[in-house]
Amino acid sequence: MQRRPLIAGNWKMHTTLTEARALAEAVARSAADVEGRDVMIAPPFTALAEVSLALRGSTVQLAAQNVCWVEQGAFTGEISPVMLSSLGCGAAIVGHSERRHIFGESDALINKRIKGAMALGVMPLFCVGETLEERDGGNTFLVLESQLRLGLADIVCNDPARLIVAYEPVWAIGTGKTATTGQAQEAHAFIRDILASLFEKSVAGQIRILYGGSVNSDNVDILMAEPDVDGALVGGASLKPESFHRIIHFQGKTA
Ligand code: PGA
Repeated sequence: MQRRPLIAGNWKMHTTLTEARALAEAVARSAADVEGRDVMIAPPFTALAEVSLALRGSTVQLAAQNVCWVEQGAFTGEISPVMLSSLGCGAAIVGHSERRHIFGESDALINKRIKGAMALGVMPLFCVGETLEERDGGNTFLVLESQLRLGLADIVCNDPARLIVAYEPVWAIGTGKTATTGQAQEAHAFIRDILASLFEKSVAGQIRILYGGSVNSDNVDILMAEPDVDGALVGGASLKPESFHRIIHFQGKTA
């Protein structure tokens, strides 16, 4: 069975409510004719309810940019999986490099978020990736393996539709410097091997692995042509309706 490609837009800390609504409507129009692939957007928390309404009747899926691990309680500043579900938001980015590096989120914290989200019915989009220093030091695979093993510790995943992994080399995020197709494929194949050591082989073979880091309308086709690149997590280019339109209409792979 083939993995169904997924293009996800990470809006980060962008868009007011009005801008979010307009952008979501543009994405819904863009996605109206796409077949054999999934489209997802992750607006800021403040716009989730509005975007959820704007996406009614469209196939575009909604994700949050982070998620807490419990249903409710004294967790100032956090948003629970149940709150997300109540908005029609079924997925959440977890472990994004900006959360790791700017806000100091540890592998242990990320593991809690992933576990809690999965237990409460929200699909984590789990990000891993090495810094430039780690790559230059020859430590890319060590870093990826450690982030994967710690982030997915004690997690049971029997259903590949409940987890997505994103490979996002930190040096490629927001820099305009994309990984080469060879670098992306090599990392994705490695990630899949690690997943196969954690879960059933058949499950690992079906978990989608997205590439993220300066994906744009010019490089999406060649990245998507790699066998283990199942989709893209798009930051900057997802804020521009024409670019995102072209990205979700990437040429080549379908399911
Ligand atoms: P970018 O961001 O496409 O702007 O590099 C990707 C991401 O951080 O998810």
